[in-house]
Amino acid sequence: MADPLRLAIAGLGTVGTGVIRLLQENGAMLAERAGRPLEVVAVSARDRARDRGVDLSPFDWEDDMTAMAARADVDVVVELVGGSDGPALTLARNAIAGGKHFVTANKAMIAHHGLELAGAAEGSGSALKFEAAVAGGIPVVKGLREGAAANRIDTVYGVLNGTANYILSTMEATGADFTTTLGEAQRLGYAEADPTFDIEGIDAAHKLAILASIAFGSRLDFDAVACEGISRVRAADIRQADTLGYVVRLVASAEIDMSDGQPALLQQVRPCLVPKSHPLAHVTGATNAVVAQGNFSGRLLFQGAGAGDGPTASAVVADLIDIARGDAGAPFSVPSSGLEELPIADAGHHTGQTYLRFSVTDRPGVLAEITAAMRDADVSIESLIQQGRANNGGEVLVAMVTHDGPQSNVAQAVELLAGSDSLTAPPLVMQIIED
Ligand SMILES: NC(=O)c1ccc[n+]([C@@H]2O[C@H](COP(=O)([O-])OP(=O)(O)OC[C@H]3O[C@@H](n4cnc5c(N)ncnc54)[C@H](OP(=O)(O)O)[C@@H]3O)[C@@H](O)[C@H]2O)c1
Repeated sequence: MADPLRLAIAGLGTVGTGVIRLLQENGAMLAERAGRPLEVVAVSARDRARDRGVDLSPFDWEDDMTAMAARADVDVVVELVGGSDGPALTLARNAIAGGKHFVTANKAMIAHHGLELAGAAEGSGSALKFEAAVAGGIPVVKGLREGAAANRIDTVYGVLNGTANYILSTMEATGADFTTTLGEAQRLGYAEADPTFDIEGIDAAHKLAILASIAFGSRLDFDAVACEGISRVRAADIRQADTLGYVVRLVASAEIDMSDGQPALLQQVRPCLVPKSHPLAHVTGATNAVVAQGNFSGRLLFQGAGAGDGPTASAVVADLIDIARGDAGAPFSVPSSGLEELPIADAGHHTGQTYLRFSVTDRPGVLAEITAAMRDADVSIESLIQQGRANNGGEVLVAMVTHDGPQSNVAQAVELLAGSDSLTAPPLVMQIIED
């Protein structure tokens, strides 16, 4: 058997210890599949004394991750520390400049610095791999980069954040409001103490930017992702969606828009209504799913655990097997110098049905004001539902579903209503995903 592939692992938290457990438990099988043993040489984290529930005694401990990456007896540096900048980025730059292969689960770093790192890796002849950075254990990076490589892909979308999905599907099952459900998710360990990245869509946006680049061969552009989270979704919206035949999901989507005759890239993360018959409607709890539409393959669906020590370790070690086999390839689907620079598409071009929910003061004339704004913006209404009645001019909710039409018209209607003293809060606008 060939010489071992020698690994240095930085970060021994959830994912790092999962990787060590997987390498220890499946070692013999991995060596068969990779054609050579995968051998951990050195590890690093902050606190050497911490009991991590795995046997670290066979490995050298390094206090300094960057020094570890420079060791002559290391072929691959595995970064499982996290953070878009700081020590993880320093490690990545140094390891790649030193000619080491580099594997990471760090979506924030790849979303912000993936192009720079890919260019550096191509220059130094290193592999840069990040399967675990998108949708945890689901092999979607490989699925799009390799399995679907024969297709032109015009749209890729999915449920990419397990915490947000857990909250929405729990609200759906229990009828509880957002704040109560978030608190419960934090108590159960499904949401962080600071949940901002998950509930405001930023984590999903990191993953989407990476996916879009791989799917379309476009330059990764995280700053172009329009991002809206789930904190304004109320229990009443979920009930109303249910009555209309939908569920609410935080959908991350990227598509090529040709309405100006030239390709432009639309990347969005926002809560959407999903028909109950659509595959994404069945994605509940902390599960993730990705749908890609290939021009020859048709609709492809990838689904599985988006996080957790085992699934994420599975994705990290899959990258290591590729490197051991000498199968690295370009980090994104084509060499970074060949990635196409696409302008940002105008979201207003997007057409479809829309759900709008207005929180209004219960008094005569309010519905007429809303419908007049719709008429003036050329938005055609399919249904309008007032949810209950309040006494003494209190707040009531009015839900509306539009017919197919451009998002720009809906945005114009919302603009016309801005500042109206009939509205007690800005309207919640959710696009309806086609079946
Ligand atoms: N958890 C998941 O399910 C999951 C899924 C997909 C992707 N990821 C990504 O995987 C990466 C790791 O996530 P995780 O959940 O395993 O994180 P974690 O449990 O917080 O572990 C982070 C590890 O990094 C070490 N570390 C942090 N700052 C350091 C520093 N300045 N110098 C040296 N070591 C440092 C910590 O050391 P100490 O233990 O000594 O404090 C810890 O061992 C992140 O990029 C994350 O986004 C995670």
